[in-house]
Amino acid sequence: MNNLSYFFVLCLLATLSHAIELDFCVGDPRFRGEKTPNNVFGNNVTLAFSDVFPAFNGLGISMARLDFAVGGVIPVHSHRTSEVLILVKGSIIAGFIDTNNTAYYKRLEVGDVMVFPQAMLHFQINVGKTPATAFVSLNGANPALQLTPTALFAGNLPADIAQKITLVSQKEVMQMKRIFGTA
Ligand SMILES: *[C@@H]1O[C@H](CO)[C@@H](O)[C@H](O)[C@H]1NC(C)=O
Ligand SMILES: *[C@@H]1O[C@H](CO)[C@@H](O)[C@H](O)[C@H]1NC(C)=O
Repeated sequence: MNNLSYFFVLCLLATLSHAIELDFCVGDPRFRGEKTPNNVFGNNVTLAFSDVFPAFNGLGISMARLDFAVGGVIPVHSHRTSEVLILVKGSIIAGFIDTNNTAYYKRLEVGDVMVFPQAMLHFQINVGKTPATAFVSLNGANPALQLTPTALFAGNLPADIAQKITLVSQKEVMQMKRIFGTA
């Protein structure tokens, strides 16, 4: 599928609901074209959650596009919902960790699909020699994206509390906060 197809898939998903109240829908042009992963994680995440893509309002589904630089990652994170991922370019390791601390992870190739159960911590790592792209769908219109590293070190949580609740050393906490510009 090319990017134009994704545009129409998005339209279709927004239309195939029992709650149709519109005669037509709009695509999300932000899902088109090249994405440059230029953040510290080497990723570029394009969210189509209802807060930025109101076509999903009230439909109980949403989408995101994940682009990875070579070696790029989506760090460990969670949502309020479950998620299904399809890899369309490259090769990644995707996984989640259950409440028994058992990690389930697998190397995915193009066309592979993986499910992440709701609220579980999960992650993706580009392990291929090229950039990678995946699309995900989540069973909530506004599922949220909570990244553990930024929750702990990029927000307003004081360094001494971050240190106590993670057992990470003060030096490493400060290093993390410097990475995120919150030191
Ligand atoms: C994502 O890619 C777009 C298009 O290249 C770019 O404008 C944007 O700055 C990138 N964002 C991140 C976080 O890499
Ligand atoms: C929990 O994890 C341990 C290993 O860490 C494993 O032996 C056990 O079977 C797991 N329990 C469940 C319910 O998955």
